Amino acid sequence: MSTRKPIVAGNWKMNKTIKEARELIQGILREVQQIDAVEIIICPPYVCLEAAKQETEGSNIKVGAQNMHWEAKGAFTGEISAGMLVDLCQYVIIGHSERRAMFGETNETVNKKIHAALQAGLKPIMCVGETLEENQAGKTAAVVEGMVREGLKGVDPTEAENLVIAYEPVWAIGTGLAATPEGANAVQRDVIRPVLRELFGEEKGNAMRILYGGSVTPANAAELFAQSDIDGGLIGGASLKSDSFSAIVKAAL
Ligand code: 13P
Repeated sequence: MSTRKPIVAGNWKMNKTIKEARELIQGILREVQQIDAVEIIICPPYVCLEAAKQETEGSNIKVGAQNMHWEAKGAFTGEISAGMLVDLCQYVIIGHSERRAMFGETNETVNKKIHAALQAGLKPIMCVGETLEENQAGKTAAVVEGMVREGLKGVDPTEAENLVIAYEPVWAIGTGLAATPEGANAVQRDVIRPVLRELFGEEKGNAMRILYGGSVTPANAAELFAQSDIDGGLIGGASLKSDSFSAIVKAAL
């Protein structure tokens, strides 16, 4: 058992209207408002952030965005900057595999966003993970290590405590086929954690939270979270209902 405080974060992706967001948050709060031993984060779409902020005010639920642009302002139609988000939320997901696969994000743009987020005072949840092809070709360790190194390039060790890493193997996302607890932990303990120690020093690298994401459910969460280097989860589908998300939060206790 590590002493790291676990995080359970819900990535709602492109789901929920403002009204639905309020209802979901109220439902989650009814189930988890007494829980202090888990850091609970919800990441709704941009347009729901204001409502999410209102609904979670004074509670143990924190709010995050799902993306941001690295520039501070200007002619970037449709984009949102870190400076616009800090009034609404504390966290921001960066480099989710869906953004990499569908919206052209690369380790280089991820790195720019990480720097911009930290500069603005947002805490990034940086996503890394190999595709099925890379996995089958035995490239998992090399791919994941590269993503961590390039994504975090130039980040000062004093920022380590503000960073969260999420290991999300692409083949496990939305497929119902979660990585095995041992398999995910092997990547997090033997690939990601050593790079964090190297970049930020032994103590800071050991203190950082590394989440697992990909088909986490109330049924498999406890076993995943019991692993030495799985410090919680980034939850997609199961974060869209208050009962399943709350059950996963409780599995991290
Ligand atoms: P699922 O939990 O739906 O597999 O999604 C995981 C994910 O992508 C969270 O960011």
